Amino acid sequence: MSSKTYRIAALAGDGIGPEVMREALNVLRAIGTRFSLSFEITEAPVGWAGIDAAGKALPDATLELCRNSDSILFGSVGLPDRDPTIPKDQRPERAALLRIRKEFGLFANLRPVQLPKALAHACPLRPERQGDGIDILVVRELTGGMYFGQPKKTEDLGNGQQRAIDTMVYTTPEIERIAHVGFKAARLRRKKLTSIDKANVLENGVLWREVVTRVGKEYPDVALEHMFVDNGAMQLMLRPTQFDVVLCENMFGDILSDEAAALAGSLGMLPSASLGATSAEQTFGFYEPAGGTAPDIAGKDLANPIAQILSVALMLRYSFGLNAAADAVDAAVGKAIAQGLRTGDIHSATDAAARRVGTREMGAAIVAAI
Ligand code: IPM
Ligand code: MG
Repeated sequence: MSSKTYRIAALAGDGIGPEVMREALNVLRAIGTRFSLSFEITEAPVGWAGIDAAGKALPDATLELCRNSDSILFGSVGLPDRDPTIPKDQRPERAALLRIRKEFGLFANLRPVQLPKALAHACPLRPERQGDGIDILVVRELTGGMYFGQPKKTEDLGNGQQRAIDTMVYTTPEIERIAHVGFKAARLRRKKLTSIDKANVLENGVLWREVVTRVGKEYPDVALEHMFVDNGAMQLMLRPTQFDVVLCENMFGDILSDEAAALAGSLGMLPSASLGATSAEQTFGFYEPAGGTAPDIAGKDLANPIAQILSVALMLRYSFGLNAAADAVDAAVGKAIAQGLRTGDIHSATDAAARRVGTREMGAAIVAAI
């Protein structure tokens, strides 16, 4: 056994979080056994689970655990029924998720979108538009732009009307560092980077385009193209196979990554990695499915655990450099799909080879394949 122990904070959160996390941790333990790796997994409450347990969406003890961990495996937070009952700045999305992103400087969000051939039917596009398959990496800036820019407030105008203000701000270094992440990722893939902006209208877009172009000069082997965000949204639907790495500021990346996920069959298939500054040996990272808490199906054994399980694979790869272990997780997911197992979100009644299963059975099949 390698002497290193990897310390992982597992924050399941709300809605479907706990049940998909349970399956992901089973997968992680199976990987530990197969590859003789030592994982120290500590679970802690966050989101409404944090509010109920300790009065805060991000309890102090949970934050402390994150600080003492090598990486965070996160579920999802927020419950639309309960969120409006407390002030905006205490709600799980802002007080836990956005706070952790900012607190740990997790500026780079990677969302790999792949449509496996076996799931072609789950893609909303006609087969001829799917080409040889869809394989896109959305690189989203995560700690800047309109999510965090100040001022951010709603003010009373005194005449019974209100005014809401959000501010979009980017500095040169913020754009440079995310651009480097995008170009480096493209180098490991098909060497094409599409940078998304709204340079025809926004000052932010003009600066974004200038800085990305300048950084691109350091990567002459990567083909760089620029696209306005509205056109990008359209091109994703019309010809998704033209994209390799898609580089976006925070909000455009939020929107386009959901659109791209729909191409891959379901949001329940989309994992994500949020990374900060890298050290030579290992990178602190935050790993979460890109979908939400899905309260309508929570606790019913209906949720697709694959996004959470693929987030484990991203953690093994990006934070710990355990590429063989990460490959084993990806392959096990591929095997369960090849066996015809489908949760409701990726199931099609017309696919005779497919069998509809629940969260537990999908998780167990993936564990068995490891
Ligand atoms: C995402 C989510 C979050 C975001 C929400 C839950 C705050 O949509 O990770 O894409 O907007 O970043
Ligand atoms: Mg989103």
